[in-house]
Order: sequence, then C-alpha cells, then structure tokens
Amino acid sequence: MSVQPGDIRDDDRRPPVNELLEVAQHGLGLKPKRLPSWLFYDERGSQLFERICEQPEYYLTRCEIALMEVHAGSIADTLGSEVRLVEYGSGNAHKTHILLEHLHAPVSYVPVEISPEPLRQSVERLAGEFPQLPLQPLCADFSKPLRLPIPPRAPRRTVLYFPGSTIGNFENHDAAVLLRKMRNEMGDAGGILIGVDLKKDPALIEAAYNDRAGVTAAFTLNMLARLNREIGSDFELSGFAHRAHYNPMAGRIETHIVSRHEQQVKVGRAHVSFRADEAIQVEYSCKYSLEDFAALAARAGLAVQHAWTDPARMFSVQYLVRAGTVAR
Ligand code: AVJ
Repeated sequence: MSVQPGDIRDDDRRPPVNELLEVAQHGLGLKPKRLPSWLFYDERGSQLFERICEQPEYYLTRCEIALMEVHAGSIADTLGSEVRLVEYGSGNAHKTHILLEHLHAPVSYVPVEISPEPLRQSVERLAGEFPQLPLQPLCADFSKPLRLPIPPRAPRRTVLYFPGSTIGNFENHDAAVLLRKMRNEMGDAGGILIGVDLKKDPALIEAAYNDRAGVTAAFTLNMLARLNREIGSDFELSGFAHRAHYNPMAGRIETHIVSRHEQQVKVGRAHVSFRADEAIQVEYSCKYSLEDFAALAARAGLAVQHAWTDPARMFSVQYLVRAGTVAR
C-alpha cells in the first residue's frame, strides 16, 4: 500500500507559518527572553537532531532503542492484540519499527506530526516495510486536542506512543496537562507508552547536551538561522552561543542562547536589544526518577502499569493506563 502525500490528513488547527513572527516577537519581549523549543525543528533542525542522536555523549536514543529491542516482546504482550497505535511526533523511525514488528495484529498506525515533510517520509518508509498495516497519518500539533481518523476496524485499545523523552520538554505543570489530554484521547481501555529519561550523575546528563563535536550547539543556534530565513530577522549567529546546564534542584537541563556582547537585532519591525551575556531560554529537558514520574502520572489521573529500565537505570519506557484500571 503506497501512501501519497494527498492521503495525509491535515488538521487545520495546526499553527500557520505566519504566526512565527508573532511567536518570536512575543518570546523576545518577555523578561527573561524565551522562545519555544518546537522552533528547533525545521528541516535542518530535524537533521541536526538526528546527528545529535549519533553523538557518543547523547545516551538517550541508544538506551531507548536498546530497551525496545530487549523488551519488545514483553511490551507487545502488555499492550495486547488489535491495538491502534498513535504516535506523537513521528521522527522516531527506528523505535516505531521495532514496536510495530512485535505488536499482535495491530489495527492501524497513526503518526501525528506537525511538519509535513518528515511525516510524508516516515509514512512512505513504513508503507514499504509494513504493507499490510493501515497507515493514517495526521498532520497536527499533538499538544492541541486531536481529531483522530476513524480506524479501519474497531481496535481493542488505542495506545499513544510518545518516545524520545519528548515529555521532558514540558515543564511539570504542562506535562501533567498534556498527559491528561492524552488520557482523554486514548479512552477507558487505552494506554500510553512513553519514553522517559531518568535522573543520574549530572555530569553524564550535562555531557549529553554539550557534545564535543558541537552538534548540539549547531542545533540550538539553528533556531536563529531559521528565524532569519522564515521571518527575515537579522540575528548574527557568531554573536550568540549555546549554553546547557543541569539544574539539580529542578531536575532538568536548561538550554539558553546567550548573546556574546551587547547588540540589537531586527525582528520584523521590532528592534530587540541584548545585553552582553543576556540569555534566551529555549529548552528544558526534564529528568525524572521512577517515583517522580509515577507522581506526575497520578496528577494526570494515570498509573504506571509497567516500567522497563536498563540495569544502569539510564532511561525508561513506561506503560500508563487510567488510574484504578491497572492489571496486576
Ligand atoms: C527530543 C526533546 C528529547 O531534550 O533530549 C537534544 C531534544 N535537545 N539535544 C532532548 C534535544 C538538545 C531532546 N528531545
């Protein structure tokens, strides 16, 4: 079954590109300045993120793939047969492939992705690899309420797959709100399979966001290059630097773009002033203990049915269901 771009359902509530200028002006007007991390993921940003995943310091992707490989059978048994699998953000080809290979008689696969081109590519590849599996791609912002396409036959349950520790990009309150929304979308019998990065030696965490080859720095600064290209701002990239520190109190990496000197930047009609060393906050990557995450799930009306971890407790893949419905 080959999927044509026309088969991709477009959710019209996706933010239009011309909101970009507004988003940038709003964020740069805040004190302290702040831009949302989804701005990283234009085509170049998505490529750079894939290269981050190959860096020796960035343990997250390798650990998660290893967990999926080791536990795929047990994960598939836990999810049960005739699952409709909905993936939030579809840039995770490798992990999805492992999961789909092991699922028992899946009903359909629904990748939800805001960028049309990566969505089209992942769907085209999967259509070749799983010719029997109905694919129902949805171009939409997964943080907003979704209108899921009608499945080809009734699934026993809907499982929302949210790998990559992307949940870590949301601050605690927002993460609970997102999980609550997912709880509604999956229905009574549904579940959430989610990748969660764990707390560990801060030096290991910090190294993952400051790779020696400088790929993460390029990824961070690409946000400014994207704004220059798409909204015509005039950020001088050499005048800014990447900075990522682990905040042990908050349990998260805090990434900033730091102005190397005093300067002014044109953003649309606005002139934005930077002091020397002034920072734009661009990303949080929250880390959880297993207890922290169980507490977060509980705030969203969810319970952890199972958590798969590696012996060194670097990373976890967890299966969440509605609280009060955990199978024992
Ligand atoms: C894709 C959001 C999980 O926070 O680790 C990697 C993004 N940023 N290096 C993360 C990211 C810098 C990544 N997530």
